Amino acid sequence: MYTLPNLPYAYEALEPHIDALTMQIHHDKHHQAYLDKLNAALTNYPELAALSAEDLLWHFEDQVKVQTPADIQTAIRNHGGGFANHNLFWEILSPEGPREAVGQLATAIASQFGSFANFRSQLIDVAIKQFGSGWAWLSLNEKQELVLSSSANQDSPLLIHHYPILGVDVWEHAYYLKYQNRRPDYLEAIWNVLDWQKIEERYLAALNKS
Ligand SMILES: [Fe+2]
Repeated sequence: MYTLPNLPYAYEALEPHIDALTMQIHHDKHHQAYLDKLNAALTNYPELAALSAEDLLWHFEDQVKVQTPADIQTAIRNHGGGFANHNLFWEILSPEGPREAVGQLATAIASQFGSFANFRSQLIDVAIKQFGSGWAWLSLNEKQELVLSSSANQDSPLLIHHYPILGVDVWEHAYYLKYQNRRPDYLEAIWNVLDWQKIEERYLAALNKS
């Protein structure tokens, strides 16, 4: 059984950029629902339930698809993705922390995107253009290159063996109470609450994995 991680800060800690009610509903209702449905899907698959949520998605093609019928595959893809993606999202947000890349990731971003400002505008562009519900991602691919992408629904980059370093939730449940239909305003505000120390730690972990 997977369990819901506590938010590492109070619901209101990210105000005014992300409001307390959005955080409460997002964590206590949406994230909880992904978790509950993932656990339900894995009830009869103890070998899969023994994997971490990230490994479950990493091994989707070679293990999940081999061991489960189609309806369970879909549940694992959607709810396993929803569970893991939100674990990541809470981790990289914080009321404190550097608001620009630091350390080795700062160097890699400057090298691949020219500057942090270029990277920032490209990520916003990817996030705005994601049609409907989904995520915008900065991931590390198997060549240890940084990759910007978006995905629909709760699809994780782990499904294609890209390790997600930063994910921005662009489902309406992430911003609608405060920003309504103004996704670009949410995508400007979120830079005030991204914790680049945590994102650097994910980058270093990703380098060590591959
Ligand atoms: Fe979400």
